[in-house]
Amino acid sequence: MPRLPYVAVPKREAERARRALARESLLVRDVRVRREGDRVLFPVEDAEEAARVLEREEVPFELGEGEFESVSGPRSVEEVLRERLGVSCSVPYDVVGDVAVVQIPEELEGYEEEVGRAIMEVHKRVRAVFERGPVRGVFRVRELRRIAGEGPPVTEHREHGCRFRVDLSRCYFNPRLATERRLLADEVVEEGARVLDMFAGVGPITVILKRFVPGVRVVACELNPVAYRYLLENLRLNRVSARAFLGDAGEVVRLLGRFDYVIMNAPKFAHRFLRAAARVVRPGGRVVYYRIAGSVEEAFEEVRERLGGGVELESWREVKPYSPEESLFRLVVRVP
Ligand SMILES: C[S@@+](CC[C@H](N)C(=O)[O-])C[C@H]1O[C@@H](n2cnc3c(N)ncnc32)[C@H](O)[C@@H]1O
Repeated sequence: MPRLPYVAVPKREAERARRALARESLLVRDVRVRREGDRVLFPVEDAEEAARVLEREEVPFELGEGEFESVSGPRSVEEVLRERLGVSCSVPYDVVGDVAVVQIPEELEGYEEEVGRAIMEVHKRVRAVFERGPVRGVFRVRELRRIAGEGPPVTEHREHGCRFRVDLSRCYFNPRLATERRLLADEVVEEGARVLDMFAGVGPITVILKRFVPGVRVVACELNPVAYRYLLENLRLNRVSARAFLGDAGEVVRLLGRFDYVIMNAPKFAHRFLRAAARVVRPGGRVVYYRIAGSVEEAFEEVRERLGGGVELESWREVKPYSPEESLFRLVVRVP
């Protein structure tokens, strides 16, 4: 029996909780939900995110960890591959809509098709699996090679109840930043703020802010024409409005007014645009700077070097580890 994190809710709230968790794809599939007295225990993929969803829905809950009975079939891709090939290793993959993107571990080189098929067996909604190659160029697009299933890596992904269409072979999109986007909306950007999403991609930050921050006004900028097309489509799909510009953020900012927040989600090259960003932040406004670095101090030093000693590190978060020595950090920097 697998051991999993769960949320326990009162029986009378169980249906409402189930719907809210299912909407965000947080319920673990293929395991049986458990009753315990007058509580129902839902096994969840991400306890932190599940807690956030239930808080939002005002459903009382408790977090815990326990064993759940498997309903059918194998639970994990690793288990399937261990059974079938006798190889035991972790297989990192992401599911984006009805497509999966997998990093083939060294131990499984030469077995790409089996890995793809195992993912499709475990995730019934996945129609095609792609092997991930390197991310290239300023558009930050990942090279992909189909190893199982059919069709191109064009899909529609759901996140926090929002819909994102994307062509993963021509645009950047990272489903692992879902929690970060929600925190940005819930904890950083204030109601009614004027925001510039400087490197908007297909629009996940813009859409999530518009959906969850009351009265926020967003201007989005993107250089990749394909991503820009999806950005417009995703604004429409989610029935939110934002001004969107196709072009180089460094140039486009000259045409715009002042912002309360400039969000710089381009961890590989945002440093080159710091001065341009600071010029369009109102006095006392914030630059929200994402950077891969060994420490937050190192990332902030880079900001100080470019923007001068008057800037202040208001808050920061380690978003996720990037390599054994480095992490992706989010810095909220107050500009004088
Ligand atoms: C790391 S991605 C982030 C996209 C989006 N914020 C997200 O979270 O999915 C950086 C984006 O910046 C775009 N980009 C690169 N150079 C740019 C520039 N000079 N001006 C505007 N956008 C740019 C890339 O095409 C890419 O979509």
